[in-house]
Amino acid sequence: MQIDPWGSSQYQDYARLRDEFGIAGFGADEWGVFRSPHRLLRRGVVFGHRDFERVADAVRGKDPWSVMTGFMPSGDLHMGHKMVLEQVIAHQGEGADLHLCLADFEAMAARGFTQEKAHRIALDQYVHNALAVGLDPATAEFYFQTRRERVQELARRFAQRINWSTLQALYGFGGDTSIAHVLAPLVQAADILHPQVDERGPRPVLVPVGVDQDPHIRLTRDVAQDSRRLGILPPADEKGQWIVAVKGSDDARRWLDVAERVLDAQGLGTRTSRKRNDPHGQVAIGGASQITRADARALDVALGRAEAEEGRREAGAEDRLSARRWLGFVPPSATFHRFMTGLQGGKMSSSKPETSIYLTEPPAAAEKKLRASVTGGRATAEEQRRIGAEPLKCPVYELYLYHLAKDDAHLAQVFDECSTGKRLCGGCKAEAAVLLLELLKSHKEKRDETAHLVPQIVAND
Ligand code: TRP
Ligand code: SF4
Repeated sequence: MQIDPWGSSQYQDYARLRDEFGIAGFGADEWGVFRSPHRLLRRGVVFGHRDFERVADAVRGKDPWSVMTGFMPSGDLHMGHKMVLEQVIAHQGEGADLHLCLADFEAMAARGFTQEKAHRIALDQYVHNALAVGLDPATAEFYFQTRRERVQELARRFAQRINWSTLQALYGFGGDTSIAHVLAPLVQAADILHPQVDERGPRPVLVPVGVDQDPHIRLTRDVAQDSRRLGILPPADEKGQWIVAVKGSDDARRWLDVAERVLDAQGLGTRTSRKRNDPHGQVAIGGASQITRADARALDVALGRAEAEEGRREAGAEDRLSARRWLGFVPPSATFHRFMTGLQGGKMSSSKPETSIYLTEPPAAAEKKLRASVTGGRATAEEQRRIGAEPLKCPVYELYLYHLAKDDAHLAQVFDECSTGKRLCGGCKAEAAVLLLELLKSHKEKRDETAHLVPQIVAND
């Protein structure tokens, strides 16, 4: 199985995706760290993560962390897209700084759009709707990929380090893939990592995305590792030691000095208690009983920050990003959400209007599509009353789950009534239609109120 970020596959079996790609499950242990976890986290719509622990550490310790995500401006925004926006907005209240990318380069590469078209869709659909959904312009900013020089510069840097077979294996690229398309993942890796080259330096970054983006996350995590001189090796067994190791042999002594300074600052042993081995470029820092996984994660961030500092010194005072080999990136963390099922049963897709409800859809059209939707209902009302229907196979139930249920108790009620046969699809759709029309109406009002903010929230570069 391969995940194709530009394909149209529908992922039904999320447990299998997790197992096959090593995505971890996302549950109360993870979202419990937030003060008021968003319903998409609580309801399991966000079902998996990579390396979320780093973010949880930062939230708990009130350390800096960031949220970075992006949107390819492909067409009108539908209810499926609204999810990432809502998650981002929820994190805005949890102390993260936000970095939001408008992927104009990707739209040109993958969809063949002109830049003008990509920009028009980006502003009218993504930026404006994000504001209407509640994004606070005071602490958020959108930027265009093609305009941000730091992103372009990083992408060129990464292009020096990534080879064709890696991209072939990750994306199934072949001889007929256009070169712009090949560049798109490099630009996305640059999007994801560029917050860490600002004045605040390396730090945990959460990337909330749909699971189709996982290949980009894996690529970017590898790119981040490649920017590091120092790595942490866990103990091989109970008697083993945690080790900080220098990668490569050049200047190993100097980088071990960097490591020791950080270890001192973190309070991880002393120069005499630690065992430093210069010829091997390693320093042993303690056993499993002395150093926890959380200590090791904190150490990794601290090492990254020190490595970026040292890399800057090495490159000289004139700090051109491109002159620096060692950037000390902390590998990004990611959460993955499920996709919405379309109203006709397949994927909800902006290119197929009958499958989607758009945020700027006229109410009458939305209601008509909802009425025509497939359901998890039975062939006859009599049968449905007798054996109940199947909410987990029903796109209308999904609408309640993702967007319409006012609270978790309401959602549980819909589920119970549906599966026990107390609820029939006609009435259920009528109730959903009322809620949906309310949602669309209030969205329209919010769009009117926020129209003037659109230019303000887009960066000038
Ligand atoms: N590829 C993403 C999409 O198809 C858009 C994107 C660009 C992105 N850069 C990003 C997503 C950085 C997350 C992080 O919508
Ligand atoms: Fe779907 Fe509602 Fe019918 Fe249940 S009753 S199958 S949730 S439309």
